[in-house]
Amino acid sequence: MRKYRIRGGNRISGVLRVGGGKNAALPILAATLLAEGESIIHNCPDIADIRFSVEILRHLGCRVNFEENTLNVNATNITNAKLPTDLVCKMRSSILFMGALLGRCREVEIASPGGCQIGARPIDLHISGFQKMGVSITENGDLMHAKSPSLTGAWIYLRDVSVGATENLLLAAVLAEGETVLVNAAREPEIVDLAKFLISMGANIRGAGTSTLKIMGVKRLQAATHRIMPDRIVTGTYLLAAAMTRGDLTLTHVNPYDISAVTAQLRTMGCQITEHPAQIRLHAPHRLTAIPHLITEAHPGFPTDMQAPFVAALATAKGTSVVEERIFEARAAHATELNRMGARIILAADNRVFVIKGREKLYGTSVNSHDLRGGAAMVLAALAAEGETIVHDPGYIARGYDDIAGALCAVGGDVGEVNLS
Ligand code: EPZ
Repeated sequence: MRKYRIRGGNRISGVLRVGGGKNAALPILAATLLAEGESIIHNCPDIADIRFSVEILRHLGCRVNFEENTLNVNATNITNAKLPTDLVCKMRSSILFMGALLGRCREVEIASPGGCQIGARPIDLHISGFQKMGVSITENGDLMHAKSPSLTGAWIYLRDVSVGATENLLLAAVLAEGETVLVNAAREPEIVDLAKFLISMGANIRGAGTSTLKIMGVKRLQAATHRIMPDRIVTGTYLLAAAMTRGDLTLTHVNPYDISAVTAQLRTMGCQITEHPAQIRLHAPHRLTAIPHLITEAHPGFPTDMQAPFVAALATAKGTSVVEERIFEARAAHATELNRMGARIILAADNRVFVIKGREKLYGTSVNSHDLRGGAAMVLAALAAEGETIVHDPGYIARGYDDIAGALCAVGGDVGEVNLS
């Protein structure tokens, strides 16, 4: 258990460098399994989920070195196609190793990843896609065993736009026999980054970033070098920290294009934003104003991972906002915690609609984080609140933010971190 002790009221101002993207790095680490030899991955964030993935790669037989945000992965000898249940249960996104192991070994054994705090998060689209590619999947209790003597390309329509299913099927398709077409594929920038890495390994992929991906399978891939794209959700989170505290923050090593949906809303709330090729500056001279109706959607729409941080910001804005979470069915636990700080948030429609009457002030108290982005939202609220807030966190925040306390202190925040575990 960790505790963040935050004294509110300081403006978040200055210059901060943003690291590589968690949700780009995770599928790219799985992709290193697809080739013998040593892949080198630069700008990899040093966060818990990456360290879990390193443990999984080592468990499978890879030699891995992780120093100074650079990962060297030698996947020449894969000695095992069984994913460790204890790690799979800790990190849902380990499901992405399924596609990579099917591509490399034509076999994988994995515990079905349970749901989590933000929803059931089924994997039916992953499974039905693999089955179309000739994979036979048997379940034995909690364990799934997938095997495919010959992995064949297939035409696959994804019923829902799913980031993980798109990535998982892409990871299998690059070494399948023949062409795979993914229709209604997710268009997130992280998928484009994964495709860039796979293409540098020798994969034949067209349409990354569009809703139709065409992959012609190849016989073999080569290890490659890649630089992970900037983390767009960390970028959005720190911009909000400045927005909520009337700050003036410049973020470097970012890609403004990737978070246009977020910066468009920040401008609606009254922030002054200037963008350069790898830099974004946000200045918030006044109290934020409400957003009449904000909806989370698949990319290029407003990202669900920014919902909780934005709800925290709108809790202090002038006017009433309505936020609708359309991606996950249980991403609302932060509302109760924010209300304990004096926010006025009413939940409706099975906790998928937030009606937020903005308040001039929130007040410090003791609150909990219930998931990664909800925890980040509580840190943001504490920065803007009057007095001291203790954010109790069982480790969610560190899964997606590399030293959030240190980063915020570097730009004026008063944030202490106590690790109780
Ligand atoms: C990825 O999760 C991200 N995680 C999530 O970020 C992000 O919120 C999400 O995409 C949406 O952008 C990583 O990239 C590691 P989905 P993923 O499959 O792939 C339903 C964070 O905070 N669905 O796009 O699990 C699903 O229930 C995390 O960094 C099915 O029904 O999300 C959801 O309602 C949280 N069947 C919707 O699709 C399936 O087989 C979108 O989920 C798969 C998904």
